[in-house]
Amino acid sequence: MKLGVNIDHVATLRQARGTNYPDPVEAARLCADAGAHGITAHLREDRRHIQDHDIERLAEERVLPLNLEMANAPDIVAIALRLLPDEVCLVPERRQELTTEGGLDAVGQEAALRPTITAMREAGIVVSLFIAPDPKQIEAAVALGAPYIELHTGTYCDASGAAAEEELKRLIEGARLAHRLGLKVNAGHGINTQNLPGILRIPHLDVLNIGHSLIARSVFIGLRGAVVEMLQGMNTYRGGEP
Ligand code: PXP
Repeated sequence: MKLGVNIDHVATLRQARGTNYPDPVEAARLCADAGAHGITAHLREDRRHIQDHDIERLAEERVLPLNLEMANAPDIVAIALRLLPDEVCLVPERRQELTTEGGLDAVGQEAALRPTITAMREAGIVVSLFIAPDPKQIEAAVALGAPYIELHTGTYCDASGAAAEEELKRLIEGARLAHRLGLKVNAGHGINTQNLPGILRIPHLDVLNIGHSLIARSVFIGLRGAVVEMLQGMNTYRGGEP
């Protein structure tokens, strides 16, 4: 299983003071050096953290495969088609939210998603849909021709006790169904070293996309240390069905 580091919150720290540091591209280089497998960045419509020039530099340097998280909005789609990230992950986006809340409604938005997915595929960009572990959403991803889904792990990561177990069961079943239907499966949102053991029970995972907890941990042990610590935690993953 691979680790994709979401570097949005390096930019959050920079934007908080309007400085030109810390630099997300320098963070990407450090992540590569520490053994991460990919870089994820979310160019939000409100540009609250990552800016256009960050994406341009990340796309140009390409220290690792670049996964652009994005809403299905025409101006952002145009940027993706110009910069050609290795992968795009289509997410829902609301301006008021603190972070991406809930998964994409691939069922309800099939008509709007189809042309975007087709354009991305024609441009050679791998498409992933960020969805909840809901069988209907997984089937819609297949119908739309997306090769990847990213299972939204936020509900599981925020829950405890029986609710967490219940959500983990949904994630496990969702990953099984997606795999059976020929999709590749990533997972992300809210993952940290504490909840990682539960995440490792989800079969068939290709990439874990992790941001906030890694950048938070790096305040204390450095970005390299935080990436290495997470990779060590992921080491025991066995992948397929037990
Ligand atoms: N995957 C997706 C699709 C996301 O929207 C986010 C948050 O930007 C992440 C992964 C990373 O989540 P976190 O910052 O909670 O690790």
